[in-house]
Amino acid sequence: MMDNLRQTLGSFAMVALLFIGFIFLYHWSFSSFSTQLLLSHNEPLCQQQSNMSTYVNESYGDGLDKALAKASIRNNKTVIIAMVNKAYVEQDVNGDTITMFDLFLSSFWLGEGTRSLIDNLLIVAVDQTAYDRCQFLRLNCYKLETDGVDFEGEKIYMSQDFINMMWRRTSFLLEVLKHGYNFIFTDTDVMWLRNPFKKLSKNETEDLQISTDSYLNDPWSEKHQINTGFYFARSNNKTISLFEIWNGMKDNSTGKKEQDVLLDLIGGGIIGHLGLNVRFLDTLYFSGFCQDSKDFREVTTVHANCCRSIAAKVADLKAVLHDWKQFRRLDLEVNSTININWTSHQWCLRSW
Ligand SMILES: *[C@@H]1O[C@H](CO)[C@@H](O)[C@H](O)[C@H]1NC(C)=O
Ligand SMILES: *[C@@H]1O[C@H](CO)[C@@H](O)[C@H](O)[C@H]1NC(C)=O
Ligand SMILES: *[C@@H]1O[C@H](CO)[C@@H](O)[C@H](O)[C@H]1NC(C)=O
Ligand SMILES: *[C@@H]1O[C@H](CO)[C@@H](O)[C@H](O)[C@H]1NC(C)=O
Ligand SMILES: *[C@@H]1O[C@H](CO)[C@@H](O)[C@H](O)[C@H]1NC(C)=O
Ligand SMILES: *[C@@H]1O[C@H](CO)[C@@H](O)[C@H](O)[C@H]1NC(C)=O
Ligand SMILES: *[C@@H]1O[C@H](CO)[C@@H](O)[C@H](O)[C@H]1NC(C)=O
Ligand SMILES: *[C@@H]1O[C@H](CO)[C@@H](O)[C@H](O)[C@H]1NC(C)=O
Repeated sequence: MMDNLRQTLGSFAMVALLFIGFIFLYHWSFSSFSTQLLLSHNEPLCQQQSNMSTYVNESYGDGLDKALAKASIRNNKTVIIAMVNKAYVEQDVNGDTITMFDLFLSSFWLGEGTRSLIDNLLIVAVDQTAYDRCQFLRLNCYKLETDGVDFEGEKIYMSQDFINMMWRRTSFLLEVLKHGYNFIFTDTDVMWLRNPFKKLSKNETEDLQISTDSYLNDPWSEKHQINTGFYFARSNNKTISLFEIWNGMKDNSTGKKEQDVLLDLIGGGIIGHLGLNVRFLDTLYFSGFCQDSKDFREVTTVHANCCRSIAAKVADLKAVLHDWKQFRRLDLEVNSTININWTSHQWCLRSW
């Protein structure tokens, strides 16, 4: 009787064990199958990514590493990058004695809490004159070598030279991401009136935060007209992939500047495709001539966008700094309910 029971229990246990084993095996193979499914779905991307993030273009040498390390001091592998050529740094004999680059640097001096950011600013010079000027000013300078290309003169908006220079910039910034540095890229026609790090999201899941020509009241709307004159990019596999793809389109986008190509990529759904988290910046903080910030108390940067020539930008940006100084003076007075408007951007309006 007992023996029989033991036998029955034993075989029952055997069956149970087998069953559990089978369930386990089935589950295991099924889950590895589904993992495989997921992987094969993502595979091209993943492989691309891990290869890409380890690959650093040797032609930049260790000069770039040193420059980035120096500029990111006290700023957690984050740098501010501006690119200049001769036309932005040298006084024109017949024109203004103030250059765009002078105005740009002035804004760091006049801005609120922006002076120390000069240490994190890396000036990327695309020609010798720009490099010399940068060295003269004792800034962090990096000379970008480009074989057989002259980037010295003023690049009229949308000329082929202008377009080439913009693409050179994208491939350089890709390299910065590959070196593991986050960056704010800023054009020199952006005035830094307050510290933008205070208005940019600190959420590390946000891969890219980019300025817009006019804001649509929704930071996630992909319908924005983006502006590549000011943005913050975090270095990770997703942004590296984005810049790889973006930069890879340069030879297949005749007559298009990099900004339009990025806009097309966003329109084509690249944000969802790469799983990017992109924030579109409000012009209330990141203002521009296309759409002025409504509030001097909030404004952080002012970009001379919607403008065609350097001379017009310089003239109208001088007015911006003048408005800003006036605001600051009044702001220091007793609880004034200041009512200042931006001076209209006449030169830029007429530059078209
Ligand atoms: C990327 O890496 C994989 C293996 O990790 C290799 O098979 C493939 O050739 C690499 N691709 C490139 C473009 O280097
Ligand atoms: C490396 O960078 C140089 C510019 O410095 C560029 O001309 C070249 O195509 C790049 N090489 C690769 C493999 O990306
Ligand atoms: C750098 O990172 C540390 C720790 O993550 C943080 O405490 C510090 O505030 C950061 N510094 C800056 C300038 O962001
Ligand atoms: C960061 O953003 C992600 C996705 O938008 C969100 O889920 C998360 O809560 C945010 N983290 C913080 C600290 O705000
Ligand atoms: C990219 O992803 C690979 C693995 O998928 C990881 O080892 C590497 O650290 C990542 N690189 C960056 C820059 O996040
Ligand atoms: C380049 O553009 C042409 C025409 O728009 C298109 O057919 C082709 O697939 C593109 N090539 C790449 C590599 O994107
Ligand atoms: C300024 O405003 C504060 C509170 O908003 C008030 O207490 C103070 O009396 C005001 N000072 C003047 C001079 O109006
Ligand atoms: C500023 O502009 C607004 C609207 O255009 C106007 O109502 C206001 O009077 C202006 N203020 C000054 C001080 O010019």
